[in-house]
Amino acid sequence: MESNHNIDMNNINNSFDQYSYNNDIIVTPWEVLGDLEDKTYIKLIEKFGTQAISQELIEKIKKLTGEIHPLIKSQYFFSHRDMDWLLNKYENGEHFYLYTGRGPSGFIHLGHLLPWLFTKYLQDKFGAKLLFQITDDEKFLYNLGATKETISKYTSENILDIIAIGFNPDLTRIIIDTKHIHHLYPIATEIARKITFSTAKAVFGFTNTTNIGMIGFPSIQAAPCFLPSIIEKTPTPVLIPAAIDQDPYWRITRDIATKLGFYKPAQIHSKFLPSLSRDSKMSSSRPETAILTTDEPEIVEKKVLSSFTGGQATISLQKKLGGNADICPVYDYLKYFFDDEKESLERYLRCKSGNLLCGECKSDLVNNTRDFIIEFQRKRDEAKDKVNDFMFE
Ligand code: TYM
Repeated sequence: MESNHNIDMNNINNSFDQYSYNNDIIVTPWEVLGDLEDKTYIKLIEKFGTQAISQELIEKIKKLTGEIHPLIKSQYFFSHRDMDWLLNKYENGEHFYLYTGRGPSGFIHLGHLLPWLFTKYLQDKFGAKLLFQITDDEKFLYNLGATKETISKYTSENILDIIAIGFNPDLTRIIIDTKHIHHLYPIATEIARKITFSTAKAVFGFTNTTNIGMIGFPSIQAAPCFLPSIIEKTPTPVLIPAAIDQDPYWRITRDIATKLGFYKPAQIHSKFLPSLSRDSKMSSSRPETAILTTDEPEIVEKKVLSSFTGGQATISLQKKLGGNADICPVYDYLKYFFDDEKESLERYLRCKSGNLLCGECKSDLVNNTRDFIIEFQRKRDEAKDKVNDFMFE
């Protein structure tokens, strides 16, 4: 664990039982530790008080989009708050905004791309406007080892990835906190006035040694939840697609929304793409166990070939006992990015029965990822000329 963070994770483990259990799973906006099995996510729904995505909600989404997105079908997006309410509003003619974001602490990895690709899908399907927040302030305040220069470099680099996703420039605005603070600050102060330190401590695990910038920061991440209502001059529903680590921010925002005359923001939560070593989520702060959009093809190959898998120790054991696709990050990356439902099921069954060796999956992943990243890097290059089209004024 990094030592230069200004929130003491050991302290969180003791004092922050809402977001940790069994002392080995911790999910906060800044740190995700522990085994990311299916039962962890069931537990998180209970702990966070969110709702599982029901069959009824899936039918409703299908009615409006004409299909079920693979990331919903595979339960990668597994939880929500008020998405049903938001879709009812939409059916009644109230258009919603999408809101998502990035804390520029490093280069972008495959895990970040999943909520963003899904956000683009929602933008296309619903014609929704999108606010994309870059929390350069959060990363400066949280990581005491980071310099402003490094964060500024990653802000510029990450914006290229965001544009490369293919968001509609007419419907998308990127907000950089330190640059566009004048749009956020009036709302952030209203939010901050309604949230006590005691609530912030309970929700985020802040302690007496947390710097005061971090303590106030949640009001800045909450502000874009209400900005659409101010821009549109009418109460406007907002849907936030993100992994579930960001949920603490939305809990405090939802608590005070109606007091300020706004709708509570709705969320759709995803699981985490595991790291190549599978001992935590894929993370910018551990680039050696992450596949980055900026990696050269040879690096991707090297990383994938040295990845942890669910395979047995030897080929003969693999043939005899079969592999464990349920704990295999290589299987997960193929499933969420490249295989269709049928291919993924076939791969799963062949692995379990011992008829598929890890080398074949790794080679499929190397080939697919290399092509994907080469194309993504081409779009990243093109994005350099488009930055101004996406910036909040
Ligand atoms: P950040 O930069 O940590 O993460 C950006 C987005 O990626 C998701 N994410 C992942 N999803 C799947 N697998 C992973 N391994 C993985 N790692 C990260 C995060 O949930 C997030 O959706 N404070 C935020 C920035 C922010 C934001 C927002 C995010 C500001 N406003 C609104 C979401 C929605 C941050 O540091 O995200």
